[in-house]
Amino acid sequence: TRNGVEFAVADLELAEFGRKEIRLAEHEMPGLMALRREYAEVYPLRGARVSGSLHMTVQTAVLIETLVALGAEVRWASCNIFSTQDHAAAAVVVGPHGTAEEPKGVPVFAWKGESLEEYWWCTERMLTWDGEGPNMILDDGGDATMLVHRGTEYEKAGVVPSPEENDSDEWKVFLGLLKESLAAAPGKWTAIGAGVLGVTEETTTGVLRLYQLAAAGNLLFPAINVNDSVTKSKFDNRYGIRHSLIDGINRGTDVLIGGKVAVVCGYGDVGKGAAESLSGQGARVIVTEIDPICALQATMDGYQVLTLESALPVADIVITTTGNKNVVMAEHMARMKHQTILGNIGHFDNEIDIAGLTRYPGIRRTNIKPQVDEWTFPDGHSILVLSEGRLLNLGNATGHPSFVMSNSFSNQVIAQVELFTKHEEYDNEVYRLPKKLDEKVARIHLHALGGELTKLTKEQAEYIDVDVEGPFKSEHYRY
Ligand code: NAI
Repeated sequence: TRNGVEFAVADLELAEFGRKEIRLAEHEMPGLMALRREYAEVYPLRGARVSGSLHMTVQTAVLIETLVALGAEVRWASCNIFSTQDHAAAAVVVGPHGTAEEPKGVPVFAWKGESLEEYWWCTERMLTWDGEGPNMILDDGGDATMLVHRGTEYEKAGVVPSPEENDSDEWKVFLGLLKESLAAAPGKWTAIGAGVLGVTEETTTGVLRLYQLAAAGNLLFPAINVNDSVTKSKFDNRYGIRHSLIDGINRGTDVLIGGKVAVVCGYGDVGKGAAESLSGQGARVIVTEIDPICALQATMDGYQVLTLESALPVADIVITTTGNKNVVMAEHMARMKHQTILGNIGHFDNEIDIAGLTRYPGIRRTNIKPQVDEWTFPDGHSILVLSEGRLLNLGNATGHPSFVMSNSFSNQVIAQVELFTKHEEYDNEVYRLPKKLDEKVARIHLHALGGELTKLTKEQAEYIDVDVEGPFKSEHYRY
C-alpha cells in the first residue's frame, strides 16, 4: 500500500511509459471514449465495487479507467499468469493524476510471469475489499466467478476436497488456496457470493462455465454473456486473433511463416481468425475440426480438413483454438517434425498436454527466452512450445490491438451498467445484451473508421419487417 492504494505490480516506475501507451490507445478505443462522454456527470456505476479478472493490458487499462469515470470503485487482477503488461499495470495503479511516489489510481494485483500460487493469491486479493466485498464481477474465463462459487460451496459443506493424483497442478494450487482462505476467514466466500449483484463474462470458455452453473441451478447471481454480443465474438475472437496470432509467433520465434504448413485445431471464431492470420502470411493451412459444419466452412474457405494424425507429418506450425482439452497430446508432439512450433490461443492451457510432455521419458527442456521453450525428445528432434501452452498472443505478444478491444469492452461497460442499475430485473441466469446495443457499439466503431451507413426508407423497412432505427436482424440471424 502506498498513499492508500493497495497494489502488487512489477515496477511502479514503468507507469510513465504505460500512461503514454494508454493515451495512444484511448484514441483507438472510440467506443469506450464515447461511453465516457455519454455518461459524463451521470455516474451510473456510482456505488459499484467492481472486481475484475481480465488480462492486465494497455487496452484493459482504458476499460478500467472508463469504469472509474462512470463512478465505479475497481480492483483488478489478470486472468492469465503471462498476459500482464507491466507498464500498463503500473500506470493503472498510479492513475492519470498520480506519481510513482504518490499513486492515486486503482488497486492492481498482476505482473507478467506469475507462478500459479501467485496467480490465485492475486485473484483472491482482487476479490478482497476493505470493508464490504465486491458487488460486481467482471470476468474473463470465469476464474473469479469460480473462486466465489467453489468457496461458497465448500463453506456450505464445511470442507475442501483434497486434490487427487490426476488433478492438474492448477487445480491443486487452487484447492490449497481455498483451504487456507477458509481457515483464515470462515464464511468469507459465502458473504462475497451473497453481495455480488452480477457478473459480466468476456470469453467463450467462461461463458460455457456460466451456462453449466445456471443449468445446475447453482449460479449465485445474474450473468451477462458479453462474448456472444456479435460485436464481441465476431470481431475480437476473429479479427483480433488475425492480428495477434502471428504477432505472438513472430515475437516468439521470428520464423518465416510463408511457405510453411500450419495446422489450426478448431474452426470456430478464433480458428477462422487464426487460419486467416497464417494464410495471410503465405502459410498453407490445414484445419482439424469435430463439427462437420465448421469443417465444411473451412473447406469452402480453401483450407484442407484433416485429422491431427494425418496432418502431423507435414506440419511446421500447430495452433490450438478449440477451448477444449487434450487436443494435442505428448504422443502427437513426439511425432512432430524437428523444430515444429506449437502454441495454443484458446483460453486455458489444457488444450496442449504440457503435463504429458514434461513427463515424457528422456525429454529435455531448453529455455530459449521467456515464454519460448525448446523440448528435445530422446531421438534428437525438438519442438518449440510457446508460453508453456498458455494463450500465446498474450504470452508472447501484447494480445489484441485497441480498436477491436474497444468493441469488446464497450459491451463489457454496457453490461456492467445494465446489471448494476437493473439487477432486480434479472434472475440467476445467463443473459445476452439486446441487439440494439450491439448495433450501437458497431455504429460507433464504423463511424470512427469513416464508414457511411445507408439509411432504410420507411417503405423498405416495412418491406423487410424491421424498424427504420433497428434492430435490423432477427435473433436467429447468424452474421
Ligand atoms: P468456438 O466454440 O467458436 O470454436 C471452437 C471450435 O473448436 C468449435 O468449432 C469446435 O467444434 C472445435 N473443436 C472442439 N473440440 C475440438 C477438437 N478436439 N478438435 C478440433 N476442433 C475442436 O469458440 P471460440 O470463440 O473460437 O473460442 C475458442 C477458444 O479461444 C476459447 O477458449 C475462448 O475462450 C478463447 N479465446 C481466446 C482469445 C485470445 O485472445 N487468445 C480471444 C477469444 C477467445
